[in-house]
Amino acid sequence: MSILIRDAVEGDVEGIARVHVQGWRESYRDFLSPEALAGLSVEERTRMWQKAFAQPDPRARLLVAEAAGGEIVGFAGGGPIRRENADRLGAESEIFAIYLLDRVKRQGLGRRLMRGVLDHLGRQGCRSAGLWVLKENHPARRFYEALGGTPGAEQSFDLRGQPVVEVAYRFELTQP
Ligand SMILES: CC(C)(COP(=O)(O)OP(=O)(O)OC[C@H]1O[C@@H](n2cnc3c(N)ncnc32)[C@H](O)[C@@H]1OP(=O)(O)O)[C@@H](O)C(=O)NCCC(=O)NCCS
Repeated sequence: MSILIRDAVEGDVEGIARVHVQGWRESYRDFLSPEALAGLSVEERTRMWQKAFAQPDPRARLLVAEAAGGEIVGFAGGGPIRRENADRLGAESEIFAIYLLDRVKRQGLGRRLMRGVLDHLGRQGCRSAGLWVLKENHPARRFYEALGGTPGAEQSFDLRGQPVVEVAYRFELTQP
């Protein structure tokens, strides 16, 4: 299947929200409770992504993976570090999210999406990027390590009523 990676446009918000919810349900079912996953809503995520488009930041980049026929099957976004993460992640920029549907995993799309976002952040002058990943999310941790990310600090918090631990990953970015 040929899949296009391109910059997201406002008309993609519903597709992105659907991948966000389905991606959680498919990928997190082994380590999040059914109650936490059942509470996810495409409408709520659509509103969240609409807000992001209403306040665009040229330093940020949101990419989508589009299958033939126009279906959004994945996305990744990153931008300057948000205030709440500045101290804890210790990086100049961050990856906000990266999700693919199960049926398109392990075809190199995650690598293409991450590369596109990290290269953009490097072009903005950022020397590093960080992110948080659930400690038990071993497939994603192996993915980040395959792309050169190094693990660091841990944080605990309450995710939709469930206590979880996250690990920080850091990427050194090359300057153009
Ligand atoms: C993590 C994710 C983005 C990876 O995307 P992907 O397209 O499947 O990964 P790629 O095909 O680009 O893999 C690149 C390399 O990462 C490593 N990798 C990827 N998935 C892996 C897995 N499940 N187990 C072990 N290594 C893995 C491999 O080294 C792989 O190279 P190879 O295929 O040549 O061996 C995708 O699995 C995903 O969306 N997961 C669910 C959502 C999620 O957990 N997001 C992270 C939130 S913090």
